[in-house]
Amino acid sequence: MNPLQLTREEESKLLEIAESMLPKAYAVYSKFRVGAAVLTEKGNIFPGCNVENVSYGLTICAERNAIAAAVAAEGGDKMKIKALAVVNAQNISCSPCGACRQVIWEFGRKAVVIFQGDRGKQTLSIEQLLPSGFSW
Ligand code: THU
Repeated sequence: MNPLQLTREEESKLLEIAESMLPKAYAVYSKFRVGAAVLTEKGNIFPGCNVENVSYGLTICAERNAIAAAVAAEGGDKMKIKALAVVNAQNISCSPCGACRQVIWEFGRKAVVIFQGDRGKQTLSIEQLLPSGFSW
């Protein structure tokens, strides 16, 4: 077990599935392909990729695409994120954007996030990535 309560097997499976999504990304504008995978508390894994649009602001990040798939399958009231992995085809340092951090937080206050850091894969909790997420 690593310090953030994710087994090595869970971590490698999530990364493998996130990587497998890279060819499916629709990144015709940025050319920056992103893949993600969500592990839910129930033990299911849902993949996602980024989906861009000619109206650039409509772009959906890979993380939110995977989370939407998890909600659609398990139900929004029940789905809780245990962990999420995000990778990119260029293997450059890239953590989830602010909007995705808020959406991850919505569905998993204790979620673990694996991403490409400055020196290889990095694991942080969503609390570390988004202290004091928005709520009212
Ligand atoms: N993108 C993601 O899918 N996830 C991230 O964590 C960062 C950015 C996408 C959005 C856009 O399609 C492309 O990467 C460039 O910003």
